[in-house]
Amino acid sequence: MPATMTATGGSAGPPSGDGAVAGTGEVLLGVRNLSIHYPIAIGTVRAVTDLSLDVYRGEVLGVVGESGCGKSTLGLSILNLQKSPGRIVSGEILVNGHDILALGPEDIRAVRGPKIGMIFQNPLTSLDPLMSIKDHFIETMRAHDPKIRKGQIIARAEAMLEDLGIEKRRLSEYPFQLSGGMRQRIMIGLTLILDPELLLADEPTTALDVIVEAGFTELLAKLKRKYNLTVVLVSHNLGLVAEIADRIAVMYAGRIVELATALEIFQDPRHPYTRGLMDCVPNILLDRKELVAMPGSPPDLVNESPCCPFAPRCPKVFARCLAETPRLLADAAPAGAAPAAAASAPAASAAAPRAVACFLHERTN
Ligand SMILES: Nc1ncnc2c1ncn2[C@@H]1O[C@H](COP(=O)(O)OP(=O)(O)OP(=O)(O)O)[C@@H](O)[C@H]1O
Ligand code: SF4
Ligand SMILES: [Mg+2]
Repeated sequence: MPATMTATGGSAGPPSGDGAVAGTGEVLLGVRNLSIHYPIAIGTVRAVTDLSLDVYRGEVLGVVGESGCGKSTLGLSILNLQKSPGRIVSGEILVNGHDILALGPEDIRAVRGPKIGMIFQNPLTSLDPLMSIKDHFIETMRAHDPKIRKGQIIARAEAMLEDLGIEKRRLSEYPFQLSGGMRQRIMIGLTLILDPELLLADEPTTALDVIVEAGFTELLAKLKRKYNLTVVLVSHNLGLVAEIADRIAVMYAGRIVELATALEIFQDPRHPYTRGLMDCVPNILLDRKELVAMPGSPPDLVNESPCCPFAPRCPKVFARCLAETPRLLADAAPAGAAPAAAASAPAASAAAPRAVACFLHERTN
C-alpha cells in the first residue's frame, strides 16, 4: 500500500520561513517519555512509544506521518484526553513546567480552553445544529466564566468574527446556514475566544475542499500573529504543513523519527522514512519529474518486534536494524553526506537541535 501523505494544491514547499527556529526559546509544552496504549481484545496497541518533544513559545510545530502513526493520540494526550480504551502508561506532559497529567478535574478544566485550545480532526460535526452561532459563543465563554455578561460576549464574538472574515450578522444564524469553510472558521473562533496560549489543530482541513483549504494557512498565520499563539498542527498533508510550520516532527509507528526545521526537512530529509514521504509528494524545490510511492505499510502496533519499526520498508536496512530500535538522537550527518545539502539547510538553534532516529545518523564518538 503506498504512503498516504498528500500535498495541498498539488505541490509541497518551499516552506515559508527562512529555516530558522521561530519562537522565544522558552519551552511552552514539554512531552517527556510518553507512552500510550489501547488494550484491545487481541492485545495492546502501542499507539505512542517513549515519545519526547519540546514545543517553543511562538513557534508552529507540524506533526506529520501516515494514517495510524499516533498523531491524534499524541494530540489528545496533550489535553489529557484519551479515546477509549486508551490510557497513558507512562510519561509527563508539562505545560509551562507543570505536569497536566497530575491535575485534578477542576485544574484540568482551567487548562483546556484557556491555556490550550484544540480543533479536532472533524470540526464540522462539533457544532450543535440546534444552537445559533451566538449561543455557541455564549456557552463556550460561560463554561469558563459563568458571570460574564451577555453583552460582553457578543462584543467579543463580533470582533472575533471580523478577524475570521465572517460578517457579524452571521452570529444569529445556525450551523446549517453556513458553508463548510465558515463553520470551520467558527470552530477556530470558539477556540480562540478563550485566548489560549497553545492551539492544537488536528487535521483541521480534512473535511474541506481544496479551495477553502488553500485559505486556511493564511488565516492561521494571521491569527497566530494577532493572538500570540503557539501552534501544533497535526496533519498527513505535507504541503499544508510546509506552508506554515517552523519545525516538523515526523512520526512513524508511535515515535518521532525525525525532528528538524521545515526547510531542513524539505531540502535535506535525513531519515529514510522522511525521504520516502518527500518522494511521494510533488516538490517544487526539487526538479523531480516522477513521484515514487513508498512500498509497504506501517507496522502492526500490537505485535511489535524489537527492531527498527521502519526496517521492513527501508531501502537502507542493515543487520543492526533488525536487532535493535534506534532512539531519537541529535543528528550526526552520515559519512558521505553531501556538504552542499548540509550547508543549504540552516542549522537549527541550539535550543532545538535536529534529531533523527536512525542508526545511519548516530554519533559514533
Ligand atoms: N479507540 C481506539 N481503540 C483502539 N485502537 C485505537 C483507537 N484509536 C486509535 N487506535 C490505534 O492507535 C494507533 C494510532 O492511531 P491515531 O488515531 O492516533 O493515528 P493518526 O496518526 O491520528 O491516524 P490518522 O491520520 O488516520 O488520523 C492506530 O494503530 C490506531 O488503530
Ligand atoms: S535504523 Fe536502519 S532500518 Fe531504520 S531507518 Fe535507519 S537504516 Fe532504515
Ligand atoms: Mg488522526
